[in-house]
Amino acid sequence: MTAQLTNGPAPTPGSAAAGFTLLCVDDEPDIVDNLFRTFRKVYTVLTAASGEAAVELLKSRSVDLIISDQRMPGMTGDEVLKAARVLQPEAIRILLTGYADLESLVKCVNEAGIYKYITKPWEPEQLRLTVTRAIEHLDVERRLKVAAETLKDAYQDAVTMLSIACEGKDEDTGFHVNRVQHYTEVLAVELGHGKDEARHMGLMSILHDIGKLNIPDAILKKPAKLDPEEWAVMQTHAEHGVRILGDNPFYSMAREIAGCHHENWDGSGYPHGMSGEAIPLSGRIVKVADVFDALTSRRPYKEPWPLERAMDFLHEQAGRQFDPGIVAAFVRLSSAGEISCILQRFQG
Ligand SMILES: [Fe+2]
Ligand SMILES: [Fe+2]
Repeated sequence: MTAQLTNGPAPTPGSAAAGFTLLCVDDEPDIVDNLFRTFRKVYTVLTAASGEAAVELLKSRSVDLIISDQRMPGMTGDEVLKAARVLQPEAIRILLTGYADLESLVKCVNEAGIYKYITKPWEPEQLRLTVTRAIEHLDVERRLKVAAETLKDAYQDAVTMLSIACEGKDEDTGFHVNRVQHYTEVLAVELGHGKDEARHMGLMSILHDIGKLNIPDAILKKPAKLDPEEWAVMQTHAEHGVRILGDNPFYSMAREIAGCHHENWDGSGYPHGMSGEAIPLSGRIVKVADVFDALTSRRPYKEPWPLERAMDFLHEQAGRQFDPGIVAAFVRLSSAGEISCILQRFQG
């Protein structure tokens, strides 16, 4: 039982229908022929003379819309569309059925997620319109997806550009923000966040020190210990960060992180002396990631600490600077080799 591959003429370039492929499935040659003639001028039309042949075809050819008859010997229409849903979930599924097939229709709606059913005998114009609308809908959805991806790339680039600008002020950081981003992301996953949420938190952590743009170079790049007055100025970078990040809801987590990444679990941090779970989780996570990275990096005033020594420090400060639950998660990730993997990947 083989599929018959029948291509219609090339669609008009630039038309909404250009490049779309239909698959028509029916065991009755007259019906397949009728469907082929209805759509061949606008779309590429493939045909299959049985459900089995249609499924075989779907394994190798990408299609945009499937029209299948319900009553066929062997695989029935609902079974074909159910298989199509697994093989090509994006393809629109339309069932041709008689009124008597109500039971299979209900099954088809529930299990095969069909877009529409057309009752036999159908009005050619009604079928043509149904297919046209379905394809237009698919086209709009695809364009929106591309636009959303483009916007996502643009905002990720904007975040990276800001962090590069910030690194220019604070040259010693090297790959610091990249490592903090990835420590933050794996920590968020380890603490039970979903992948997307964790990725967003990681990305937003890049901006944790953006407020340093407001700190004079004489303080930021001073090769010696800061005096109390200078230290007070340095601490203002947390609040400058919150201000720079504005009030767009999209950057609310970045503001949270910029404002809270120097708060301590025991309330001894800055700028507000918040403690425990009153400190937003994102701030507590980035705190651990940021300090760990500062310890294991080379700075003008110190050599990088070995990983074991930095881990000892995290243990020692759990419950003081750090949320003990986050330190425990960091220890698990370190034992699994994830921390040293990030450390090696982003070497300054
Ligand atoms: Fe900071
Ligand atoms: Fe930092």
